[in-house]
Amino acid sequence: MRVAIYPGSFDPFTNGHCDILKRAAGLFDHIIVGVLVNPSKSCLFSPEERVEMISEAAKDILNVRVIHFNGLLVDFCHQTKACAIIRGLRAVSDYEFEMQMFSVNHQLAKDIETIFLMSSPRYSFLSSSIVKEVARYKGDISKMVTPLIEEKLKEKFYSS
Ligand code: PNS
Repeated sequence: MRVAIYPGSFDPFTNGHCDILKRAAGLFDHIIVGVLVNPSKSCLFSPEERVEMISEAAKDILNVRVIHFNGLLVDFCHQTKACAIIRGLRAVSDYEFEMQMFSVNHQLAKDIETIFLMSSPRYSFLSSSIVKEVARYKGDISKMVTPLIEEKLKEKFYSS
C-alpha cells in the first residue's frame, strides 16, 4: 500500500490545499494530512481545530486521514509508513523554501521521496495568509475556503 503525507501548517486549510489533496489522493492508496504542531509559530487555529476543519473539508475523499504531528516530518513519515511527501507549488517564489526543505528531508531520509504538484492556476494566488488578511477586513472569502472554515474565520475575527 502506497502512503503519502501531505504536511503543512494549514492555518487555515484553503481550497488550494484541497485541490492538491484531491489530486494527490488519486495518485496514492492513502494520504495522511499531517498538521504541524509548532509551538514556536503562533497560529490562529489550534491543531485540533485545524484537524477538525480539514477532516470536514476532505470528508468526501475516502482515502484521506487527518492527524497532527510534531517533530521531524521524516520521522512522522517513518512512523506512518509513508514513502512520499506531497507539496504544492504555486509560483517561483515557493521554489527556494521548497528546495531547501526537500534537501533537508532528503539528507535525513533517502527512502522518502518528495512529490511536487503544481497548483491549479485558479488557486495560484491563494495562501492561508491571504485568506486571513481578507477575512480580517471582512472581505469575501467564500471562494477561498469551505463554508465551515469561512464560518470559523468569522468567529475568530468578528465575535466577542
Ligand atoms: O505549510 P507550511 O507551513 O509551509 O509547512 C511546512 C512544514 C510543516 C511542511 C515544515 O515546516 C515541516 O515539515 N516541519 C516539521 C519539522 C521538520 O521536519 N523540519 C525539517 C524540514 S524543513
